Amino acid sequence: EVLADYQGTALLEKQLSDKLGISRCIVLPGNADRQYRVIDSFGRRLNQLLGSILPTGQSMISVTGGSTLARVARNLSPDLSKNRQLVFLPARGGVGESVTIQANSVCAEMALRTQGQYRALYLPEDISEKSFESLQKESSIKSVLDLIYRSSVVIHSIGTASIMAERRNLSAEEQSLVDNGNAVSEAFGDFFDQSGKLVYKVPRIGLHVRDLDKIEHVIAIAGGQSKAKAIQSYMKNAPHHTVLITDEGASKLILRDN
Ligand code: F6P
Repeated sequence: EVLADYQGTALLEKQLSDKLGISRCIVLPGNADRQYRVIDSFGRRLNQLLGSILPTGQSMISVTGGSTLARVARNLSPDLSKNRQLVFLPARGGVGESVTIQANSVCAEMALRTQGQYRALYLPEDISEKSFESLQKESSIKSVLDLIYRSSVVIHSIGTASIMAERRNLSAEEQSLVDNGNAVSEAFGDFFDQSGKLVYKVPRIGLHVRDLDKIEHVIAIAGGQSKAKAIQSYMKNAPHHTVLITDEGASKLILRDN
């Protein structure tokens, strides 16, 4: 019975990775839309995965914000820091989110749970692209950015475009780009349509989807049936070595869709 279940999951994971065109999927039971404990199980699985991929010594780990990762963070544990010095960094600065789900807070929580360290990026919201360019050269910001670009691991989530457009307080003009472009997913400030076409990009400092190719381990975490379309859309642009941690709710919908 247990073996049959395991084989069933292994098959589902293989089919899902093939369909999404990425190297690996880890599918956990349930539907994150309905049960928060599914997100806790993503966190415990992430802890295991990091334990198996991180070398001894120092590792820089960049993370994005959002409600999924804020909850995932609470499930990491100090065993990860055995023979390791972990430094958690926000993958991007300033996204106008509430404090509890900002990348800075997710980093701090991960560091607290693993007894590691973190660095924050304090950037003002709603400033022009030009000001961002000069801010990038400020030494306190530049030093964190340099660490971010040296990360060996990125942990990110994927959001549904409509919810993210609202959360990011887009201007009417930006909102119309997202709407008219029929965006369905968002990650790293990039909004993509169903076919994976980039329809809008929030100008912000930090990692972009295109930077992920250079990062050794890319771990995406998103679950729930409501995220199925967003996951499919985002994965059209994801680097092949992405590992996705998700649930049955999202997986079954993705596999059903032709
Ligand atoms: O804003 C940070 C972010 O990681 C987005 O890139 C992503 O779309 C979103 O959070 C996911 O948020 P949630 O886990 O709440 O759906």
